[in-house]
Amino acid sequence: MIKDIEKILVTEEEIKTKITELGKRITVDFAGKEPVFICVLKGASLFMSDLIRSVQLPCSIDFMAISSYGDSTVSSGVVQIKKDIDSDISGKDVIIIEDIVDSGLSLEYIHTYLESHKAKSVSVCVLLDKPKAHKTDVHIDYIGFEVGNEFVVGYGLDYAGKYRNLPYIGILKEEIYS
Ligand code: IMP
Ligand code: MG
Repeated sequence: MIKDIEKILVTEEEIKTKITELGKRITVDFAGKEPVFICVLKGASLFMSDLIRSVQLPCSIDFMAISSYGDSTVSSGVVQIKKDIDSDISGKDVIIIEDIVDSGLSLEYIHTYLESHKAKSVSVCVLLDKPKAHKTDVHIDYIGFEVGNEFVVGYGLDYAGKYRNLPYIGILKEEIYS
């Protein structure tokens, strides 16, 4: 798999350090509360499972899945729910856990959707952000790392279902998807 990677952007060690830092910030910000972490499948699964272990608060977790890019690396902009949350989040402080924000359209949709379920608050925590790619004005409360417009894989992020198990974040060689 390493032969398909152009460059390592974020190392395993840097991910660990950042997650500990984010966990501490969330612990402070949500002190006295019992947040519900909502993982956006499948990309954020590794991130969420590591993150909640650095949060020292009572909390619960849930999962949702929305339509993805298919095997393309370009957002279709069309968002569809494939798996809904199964807990009642009304009156709860919710934290959306996403792998990466590109156009921001997925996040905007999920945010609006969870607010319509009468969550008390909806916060957003993402591992990676591509600020130059945003097509909508999204508010992100916690960002792990900012990246450029390259297509990245690893630590949960995939291309055509592959590379999720890489322990680091790397830029995929263009020849793989072009
Ligand atoms: P958005 O709706 O355009 O912000 O797209 C967000 C979703 O697209 C993310 O949750 C990822 O699943 C996927 N995505 C966007 N950029 C990348 C990337 O560079 N690598 C892997 N997946 C990506
Ligand atoms: Mg995703």
